Amino acid sequence: MTARQLTDRLGGLAFGGDYNPEQWGPEVWKEDDELMRLARVNLATVGVFSWALLEPEEGRYDFDWLDGHLDRLHAAGVAVDLATPTASPPPWFTLAHPDAMPVTPEGTRLTHGSRDTYCVAAPAYRRAARRIAGALAERYGDHPALALWHVHNEYVTLCHCDHAAAAFRVWLRARHGSLDALNEAWGTAFWSQHYTSWEQVLPPRATQWHQNPGLLVDFRRFWSDETLAAYREQRDAIRAHSDRPVTTNLMLPGYQNLDLWAFGREVDLVTVNHYPSEPGVAAAADTAFAADRARSFAGGAPWLLMEQGTNTVYAKGRVLAKEPGDILRHSLGHVARGSEGALFFQWRQSRAGAEQWHSAMVPHAGPDSRTFREVTALGEAVAGLAELAGSTVLARAAVLHDSDAWWATDVQGLPSSELDYLGPLQRAHRVLWDAGVTADFAHPEHDLSRYRLVLAPALVLLSDAGAANLRRYVEGGGTLLVQHAAGAVDERMHSHLGGYPAAPLREALGIRVEEYRPLREHEQIVLSDGTRATVWSESLRTEGAETLATYLHGMLAGSPALTRHRFGAGQAWYLSTRLDDTGYADLAARLLAESGVGPELPGLPDGVEAVTRHAADGRRWHVLINHRAEAVPLPEPANDLLTGARASELAPGGCAVLRAH
Ligand code: GAL
Repeated sequence: MTARQLTDRLGGLAFGGDYNPEQWGPEVWKEDDELMRLARVNLATVGVFSWALLEPEEGRYDFDWLDGHLDRLHAAGVAVDLATPTASPPPWFTLAHPDAMPVTPEGTRLTHGSRDTYCVAAPAYRRAARRIAGALAERYGDHPALALWHVHNEYVTLCHCDHAAAAFRVWLRARHGSLDALNEAWGTAFWSQHYTSWEQVLPPRATQWHQNPGLLVDFRRFWSDETLAAYREQRDAIRAHSDRPVTTNLMLPGYQNLDLWAFGREVDLVTVNHYPSEPGVAAAADTAFAADRARSFAGGAPWLLMEQGTNTVYAKGRVLAKEPGDILRHSLGHVARGSEGALFFQWRQSRAGAEQWHSAMVPHAGPDSRTFREVTALGEAVAGLAELAGSTVLARAAVLHDSDAWWATDVQGLPSSELDYLGPLQRAHRVLWDAGVTADFAHPEHDLSRYRLVLAPALVLLSDAGAANLRRYVEGGGTLLVQHAAGAVDERMHSHLGGYPAAPLREALGIRVEEYRPLREHEQIVLSDGTRATVWSESLRTEGAETLATYLHGMLAGSPALTRHRFGAGQAWYLSTRLDDTGYADLAARLLAESGVGPELPGLPDGVEAVTRHAADGRRWHVLINHRAEAVPLPEPANDLLTGARASELAPGGCAVLRAH
């Protein structure tokens, strides 16, 4: 099952959002039908937070109200993305199964009154979740309105309870085989942590001082696998009654409790939620970052933006307004990168509840509002893009992304508290975005041969297989940039002996790092080519590589900072510090030039985003987004699918979708 099933059913791209009719009454439902028609909504996500209504007491279901809404939506021509409500168990569940509530590292057991209060490792929760998923599928599995199944909502909760501990031990036995192997892997000879029985092994609960790094990373891996197992159970309970595609919406960009590559393989259609944390151009760059990740988790296949905000951005405790036109620009930013539509949280702004100030397609002010007018215009635009369904994006550059490396960067006791995962990952993507280059993300163990340029900005942990794969990539003709502290540890969190990083990558890079030399907070250093750097430095020796820049001052004066090694048919660059923005952009420009990667649509000025979607039969569309305050001429006049008219320029802040010849 694929995205194609959904777009065929809709006759084009998806447009709509989370719909919570249970918060309203018949008058509003009537208006909803009318406004959805006006806005050209064709998909509504229903039931995400409806557990308390669907199962008012254990084992007793009330589906009548939902029957009514599904029939009404169907009559109004709106297809349904039906959710299982398991992200928010009702109060009766908590009281009947207190052991299924999550426990924090400090030992506090959480309770109901918010949402996401469940432990995926608790048998009572798993049973209840399977049961309601199965009951919904049995009732609605072939309902004519049903287009997509939406399991749960953003699996995010971590738990440290006894159920989690028991399941963790089972997982550890399978991974390590024996207690001896576990002791060896976690280095328990240090600090007297040696385990003599499995029962002694606990989740990472609060401790006096730093936790064991191997335990921390293994717990995150385990939790992701346990969550994926919980997802699979619901998916399979649904598949027993229904042939519609099944998904669970992933949360981007900042939360990292799941291995999203693994989730990408288990869903029929990758769906993501995206909420940028800054307005303006930062939000546009963040949109590209999220969308390129979503497409990559989908293995390059079309995917779907399940949620975004309409007219606001949550930024550091404030609900800031988006600029006029951002609703279209952000939505097209996703569609350009392979999203099969644009959906929102939520259709109608709630009058009460914890998210009553969150934006919606129909705001508190009602349809006579800027937001609803922009939403309606977007619905019109999306309807005009039906022919893009099924096409995707072909990137020539990739950024390496691995949850193991992220989790490894989260452990305590690394050489610098400024070593961070998400920041460098975003920065590597951003430097390509600024250069007009569309990038994929790839796992270090993926086949990378289709990419001419690969950036590895934040791989503190690199598996032996990953190191060998990167070496193969360079040997085969690729251009690789590896950044500081890469491959510091292997998959067991063990440091490499004899110099960093792992031997196969060291050979490809033609260098050997002898010592890490983190910098002080705010310390700036200068390299021989004039670039400035912060955060980190390294004492390294070249072993075959040429030195492109050295450190200028201090203990490292004269020693290599940036190197390049021609290896096999390719070249491997190593950057042992964190360059400032200008230095990093200059380095990216050099790498792009050497690897022959450039914008897909050359000739556009900075600040104009252009991405091409390719269909299997050779058709192509350029999606253009002008982030500049002035009009920009198009390379050549063309028909714009957004307006149906011929366009010769992009208005300030304007967008276009052009059929390519
Ligand atoms: C999402 C979530 C929605 C809603 C939204 C508000 O992460 O899935 O239910 O809470 O955030 O930003």
